[in-house]
Amino acid sequence: MANYIVLGAQWGDEGKGKIVDLIAGYMDMVVRFQGGANAGHTVIINDDEYVLHLIPGGIVSGKAVNIIGNGCVVDPLIFDKERRYLKDKGIPVAPDKLIVSDQAHIVTPMHRHLDKIMNKKIGTTGRGIGPAYVDKVQRTGIRAGDILNGAYEQIFNEQIRYYQRMSECIFEEPFIDINEIKTQFATAADKIKPFIADTVNVIAEAAVRHQNILYEGAQGTMLDVDHGSYPFVTSSSTTIGGAFTGSGVFMDFDKRIGVVKAYTTRVGEGPFPTELHDTTGEQLRKNGHEFGATTGRPRRCGWLDLKALKRSFINNGFNYISLSKISCLSGFDQVKAAVDYDAAGKPVYETFDGWQQPIEGLKKEEDLPGNARAYIDFIESYLKVPVGMISTGPARDHIIIRDFLW
Ligand code: IMP
Repeated sequence: MANYIVLGAQWGDEGKGKIVDLIAGYMDMVVRFQGGANAGHTVIINDDEYVLHLIPGGIVSGKAVNIIGNGCVVDPLIFDKERRYLKDKGIPVAPDKLIVSDQAHIVTPMHRHLDKIMNKKIGTTGRGIGPAYVDKVQRTGIRAGDILNGAYEQIFNEQIRYYQRMSECIFEEPFIDINEIKTQFATAADKIKPFIADTVNVIAEAAVRHQNILYEGAQGTMLDVDHGSYPFVTSSSTTIGGAFTGSGVFMDFDKRIGVVKAYTTRVGEGPFPTELHDTTGEQLRKNGHEFGATTGRPRRCGWLDLKALKRSFINNGFNYISLSKISCLSGFDQVKAAVDYDAAGKPVYETFDGWQQPIEGLKKEEDLPGNARAYIDFIESYLKVPVGMISTGPARDHIIIRDFLW
């Protein structure tokens, strides 16, 4: 029996999708517990690329039962689109492999509309995540169970009245075509029905049977609504606490895996102390193909921020690091990592000699250039947590494994 959790240690886009896919092949269950279709998890197998936003990454391996937990917000239209996308790629998505919590909240077209017109300052993904969580906390939301018993229609109509007034009177923006959204939503709601169940019991029973369970985080620690760079955050608990409230089941995780990108990126607005606005930042974006999987936006790029990561490790109690995208640092004369901030809040850097050799696809640690190894050693000693895996490229087998998880 193994219970693992994989969380992004930075601002999301750390490369969690690949790690989840690697581990998921050995798991009986994969649980998502927060967020919604704002995530963008890319999995590459052979030459096939799968980009998932809402459905847990375990679906690709075909073995695991995938759970969308109560802490998630689910857009039935995107759920249906993603299901069809996977089917077209030869991956069947049936209720025996995917279960949506009856307590998960539902993202409606009204949420998406409001997100687009009101959250320009934050630079959200426009997937309606914030407004859906507002309705949850305000106790005016639709839960998946309301779709099963038909109670959703009344709440849906109340949301229309409320959001129409918000849109027209407060934001002075035209509202969406009500008849069109009603029909579209009803069709998608019907299609999601067979997937809805009480997931708390399903997860608990899997634990009692000593099954291997993986919890899959979305976004990253620094986007957590409590612990992130508020207000430039997402609206859910992306840190380990969210795993318990967002699934309803306590898990004593054997491995709490922090996925750390070897440099830093962020999409959307907000503070980013180690951001590079120069050609080095451009080069990082180019090397790492740093464009959002959900929105296509160019990601902001900068050096690794170990000082910020220290806090992230406190938040999550990580005991295993999966280091990603080290291959994107080849070709720099120097590589830097922030180890502190000065009195003005500017990063204080530790500087490392760079390495020129391409390391994409390496599978053996001894083949890594010495300077890359020194960089990794420093990360481990600063964070006091071992690096168990080093991802050296996008493909499943582009990986150096020091501490096997299966
Ligand atoms: P929201 O989650 O769409 O409300 O967006 C809030 C903030 O989180 C914005 O800065 C987004 O760019 C960021 N964000 C949301 N999801 C992700 C993700 O999966 N990766 C990286 N950033 C994300």
